[in-house]
Amino acid sequence: MREMVPTDDHTNAPGATMVKRVRLDRDGDIGVLTFDNPPVNAVSAEVIVDLAAALDAYDADPGLIGLVVRGAGSSFVAGGDIRIFDDPAFSAQPINTLLARIEASGRPVVVALHGSALGGGLEIAMACHYRVAAPETRLGLPEVTLGLIPGSLGTQRLPRLTSLALAADMISTGKPIQSDAALRAGLIDDIAADPLTAAKTACRQIANANAALKRASTLPVRDAADVEVLLAPLDRNAAAKPHLPALSALARSLRAAATKPWAEGEATEARAFSALVPSPPSRALRHVFLAERAARHIPDLPAGTTPRPVERVGILGAGTMGTGIAMAFSDAGFPVALVDASQPGLERGLGLIDKACAGSVKRGRLTEEEAASLRGRITGSLKIDALSDADMIVEAVFEDMALKQRVMTELGTIAKPGAVIASNTSTLDIDVLARASGRPGDVVGTHFFSPARIMRLLEVVRGAETAPDVLATVMKVARAIGKTAVVSGVCYGFIGNRMAEVYMRESEAMQLEGASPAEIDGVVESPDWIGMAMGPSRMLDMAGVDVGARTVIEWIKSGDGPQHPAYRILCRTLNEAGRHGQKTGHGYYRYEGRDALPSAETAALAARLAAEHGIARRNAIPEREIFERLLYAMVNEAALILADGIAARASDIDVVWTAGYGFPAWRGGPLFMADEIGAGEIVARLEHYAQALGNADGRWTVAPLLRTLAANGGRFADLT
Ligand code: COA
Repeated sequence: MREMVPTDDHTNAPGATMVKRVRLDRDGDIGVLTFDNPPVNAVSAEVIVDLAAALDAYDADPGLIGLVVRGAGSSFVAGGDIRIFDDPAFSAQPINTLLARIEASGRPVVVALHGSALGGGLEIAMACHYRVAAPETRLGLPEVTLGLIPGSLGTQRLPRLTSLALAADMISTGKPIQSDAALRAGLIDDIAADPLTAAKTACRQIANANAALKRASTLPVRDAADVEVLLAPLDRNAAAKPHLPALSALARSLRAAATKPWAEGEATEARAFSALVPSPPSRALRHVFLAERAARHIPDLPAGTTPRPVERVGILGAGTMGTGIAMAFSDAGFPVALVDASQPGLERGLGLIDKACAGSVKRGRLTEEEAASLRGRITGSLKIDALSDADMIVEAVFEDMALKQRVMTELGTIAKPGAVIASNTSTLDIDVLARASGRPGDVVGTHFFSPARIMRLLEVVRGAETAPDVLATVMKVARAIGKTAVVSGVCYGFIGNRMAEVYMRESEAMQLEGASPAEIDGVVESPDWIGMAMGPSRMLDMAGVDVGARTVIEWIKSGDGPQHPAYRILCRTLNEAGRHGQKTGHGYYRYEGRDALPSAETAALAARLAAEHGIARRNAIPEREIFERLLYAMVNEAALILADGIAARASDIDVVWTAGYGFPAWRGGPLFMADEIGAGEIVARLEHYAQALGNADGRWTVAPLLRTLAANGGRFADLT
């Protein structure tokens, strides 16, 4: 029987006074070095200190013939601790020195990998002499997704261990590979169901055979002669995206790996990495990574709240949203009952699902069998009773208050006790719907984005009476179906559409003042200003001008919305004229296929509406003004949303925009951008527009929270 005897007092056992994040144990004549820094063994400053101490202890013990390196818990090491990059004193040098020490060791060092070996985790593994991985291990260098390149010699060791071709692909996409591919590529040496035992065996064999140790830094890059051909796609990508400097830095580092001696490659990577760490795109991408994870934590949920079990799901309404939601659940393995009141409606919905399944097979995303089981999990029915055994029901009927209230009353009756009843709405008051159900504690809003199967964002709308375990259930289910969930309180448009409304408002106001849709979209889409996937007019044309107009009309009708006669008059008039966007061939733009072309009719309409409403026209609106009126109006609205408690934290708002509205993650979201610009500047410009354009409707009134930030030099990120 093997014995694990700790060689020091380093232990994370409960009650231990000094928590050591790396410990050295002994298994006979083998040292076992364990990374133990929950949850994912990220390499923090403390880990580096403890790693140095563990290596000292190993070096001081000549009785050990070799070292096995492993990670405790569900994973090896997921990378550098993302938070330490924000420390101005951060340097990769200390960890790199330790990795050089591991590689230079005269005794074999074998790493046992399982779970994720990502970023710094894979770089540690590549400094070892031999690598054994469990079958499902994911190995990758995802730093580019954080606006970085690997900083612990990943750009130098990976091409030497595998090939320049694979290294360029893996590092530029950031996508991990699995053990079998890693074995074929030479990145690992063995696959074993029990990698720790296999690593110990390999370590003993190598030590006893006195075999030569494989040191990655001494290997040649075998396809170095093809460097220019292999790096050409990366060069092109870097040239096309100058706002993502990690790409050109990666090309430089890989070129150095292929063409220069080790020391020069090492220096090239170090220079590039340290320049990228404080760069705005990297800080923004790191912010989004942490913001998405922070959004899962609901500050006032009672500790120990247990989600309700969800095994069966029901969807009411087989329209575009209902079928998309049904597929999102089925993709994740949930059996789904899909109910529609009308036979043609149900048939159309099931037809859409069949078509989507066939499309997934055609594009190679699913095999025939996978598509068949995805389809097989969805059962259509015309009877609402088919939902009575579902643990969670999502109603996705037409966005109409009276209809949704009726439906909620029915669901309140037929849903089994304890079932979660979710309403998929983009604007309606969840509290009214919850009351209609007669069991408001079970009710929650789920605002899926279209297309619901694909779009990552899910706004989870918490009603006044939503039970804590219902909220916890929906957050858990959201994760299971691959959605990024953000909790919103109840208000018109919730977080995302409430902000989108002021953005659309300004876009249309500027069109009445003389800017073309293309000029406005151009600023929004340009990486020099924001770099969004799509500007406001193109987005509305795609989503449907009729859909956009309907919510505005309802809002105005309700009496809560703006009563100014010119409010979004362009959208409302386009709608009345049947110009509903891409689907009718005309909207803000005119369409030839999917190509959006300038529309003389829209321009004439804007000029006519401006004249009718006494709005002064200008020949041109400067790009800066377009940028400021769109972004700063949204930031001001976000400050109101925060003050109203609709969003729990500023970073949640950034997640809504980056995951749901095509706001570029490398900008960090509207509030990260606002912090970069400074609240003082934003307030000054809002005041300028109040003066220049008039503020009778109050739209340029500075939100008190924003004014406070400006007065104190504060940042949204620091609000608690
Ligand atoms: N640094 C610091 N914390 C990290 C981290 C890192 N590199 N990677 C993950 N975490 C934290 C998360 O913030 C989260 O914390 P929380 O529970 O307090 O919210 C926790 O670990 C679990 O991560 P999560 O992403 O929620 O779990 P998962 O099982 O879905 O995915 C990983 C695990 C490792 C695949 C994923 O977290 C990941 O891709 N991490 C980043 C890897 C990376 O980019 N490494 C290179 C860094 S240079």
